[in-house]
Amino acid sequence: MDNHIYTTFDKIKDRQAKEIYLKQKGKVIWFTGLSGSGKTTLASLLEEQLFELNYFCQILDGDNVRSGINKNLIFTEEDRLENIRRIAEVSKLFMNCGIILICAFISPTNKMRSLAREIIGDEDFLEVFVNTPLEVCEQRDPKGLYKKARKGEIKNFTGISSPFEQPDKPFITVDNTNANMEETVREMLKKILPEIKFD
Ligand code: PPS
Ligand code: MG
Repeated sequence: MDNHIYTTFDKIKDRQAKEIYLKQKGKVIWFTGLSGSGKTTLASLLEEQLFELNYFCQILDGDNVRSGINKNLIFTEEDRLENIRRIAEVSKLFMNCGIILICAFISPTNKMRSLAREIIGDEDFLEVFVNTPLEVCEQRDPKGLYKKARKGEIKNFTGISSPFEQPDKPFITVDNTNANMEETVREMLKKILPEIKFD
């Protein structure tokens, strides 16, 4: 059964025509990395720079999605997988309207990231690994969560009592330990949108 709900935008059948109409193509930029690795910061900077260039985007982030649409989910492996599945499905809906999604989720296992890639489609899923070492994340500890996890006050904490598998072949790997974040994002943009001409 065809259960697709047609929107006005669907009337522009041809994908290329949609791109010309919107001047952009929907895609998903998916940040993965430990808690405190810098996913949210990078996502916000990327959104700012895309906005300056007149691109239309939406950020989905662990902190906002988990207090809303996914507030019934906890941090077991099963719930994390469901978290990622729902986010990927929502991202796909936005993406099909031509919006650029910037997703910032720990998404700690290959299985979770593969599921997201499968739902979104290989071509449109751009994986960005924020490769900040655990020691650095733990030292930063912006929300005091590592401290609590070490004391056993938080269960299943990624990197401490729950696994984080490094992605095999990310589209981009960011080492932001010492880097200038703005510059890092500018370099990232060149890869994500190679059609943009920078000065
Ligand atoms: S996941 O693994 O992709 O489902 O996680 P995500 O939806 O990105 O949520 C991560 C944010 O939740 C907070 N938090 C935890 N993180 C990891 N493990 C445990 N047990 C946990 N409990 C709460 C934490 O603030 C994460 O935010 P970031 O921005 O990653 O630091
Ligand atoms: Mg964050």
